[in-house]
Amino acid sequence: MKKVKGYIFDLDGVIVDTAKYHYKSWRRLANKLGFDITIEQNENLKGVSRKESLEYILKIGGQSFSDIEQTKLAELKNSWYVESISNMDESELLPGAAELIREIKAAGLKLSLGSASKNSERILKSTGLYDLFDAIIDGTKTSESKPHPQVFLMGAEALGLDPEDCVVFEDSINGIKAANTGGFTSIGVGDEHTLREASFILPNLEGCTIAVIEEKVAQHK
Ligand code: BG6
Ligand code: MG
Repeated sequence: MKKVKGYIFDLDGVIVDTAKYHYKSWRRLANKLGFDITIEQNENLKGVSRKESLEYILKIGGQSFSDIEQTKLAELKNSWYVESISNMDESELLPGAAELIREIKAAGLKLSLGSASKNSERILKSTGLYDLFDAIIDGTKTSESKPHPQVFLMGAEALGLDPEDCVVFEDSINGIKAANTGGFTSIGVGDEHTLREASFILPNLEGCTIAVIEEKVAQHK
C-alpha cells in the first residue's frame, strides 16, 4: 500500500467501550435460562450479529427454542443492552478513538464504520461522531456476519476504494479474520495473543495518529 486512503472502524470495543455491556447482557440472558457464559466464550461473540450470538449462546447452554421464541430472547437481550447505553455520551469513547477519527477527517481521508451492530447510529450520534463518517455500514445493511468480509467490502466500496488501500481497526478475532479475507490491512486493537492474526496490533488507540498507522503499515509490507 502506498498511502492509506481509507480507514474503516469497528464500533463496539474499538470506538466505544460497549463490548462489556454486550457481554453483561448476554450473560444475564444465559443466567436467566439457567447457565453461564465465560469471558473466553465471549471472545467468539465479539463482532457477531445479535441473531448468531444468540444461536451460539443457546448451543453453549444446550437449549433449543422456536424462531419466534429466539426473536423474543434476542429482543430481551437488546432491551437490556439499550438500557445500559441509554445515557451514553463522550465519556464512553475509548482513549484516542475520537482524536484519530477527527484527524483522519481533517486530513481529507476517507472514513467508514464497519460494525455488526444495529445500534450503531444511536451510539455514534450520542457520542458526537456520526457526522464525521463518509459511510456507515452496520448490521442494518449487511446479510453476513464477520468473519465474512462483507461489512468491510461494502465499506470500501462506499468509499470508492479498493481493500488494499484501506486499513480496518478491530477488537475481535472474527473481525480480524474478516478484514484479512477481504484483502485489507487489519489492525488489532487489544490483546496481542487474542488478535495475533492481525497485520499488526495496538494495545489501544491512545496517541495513535495517521503517522503512527502509516509507519506500521510500511513496516508490515
Ligand atoms: C458487534 C458486537 O459490534 O455487534 C457484538 O461486537 C454484537 O457483540 C453485534 O452482538 C450486534 O450488535 P447489536 O447492537 O445489533 O445487538
Ligand atoms: Mg468490536
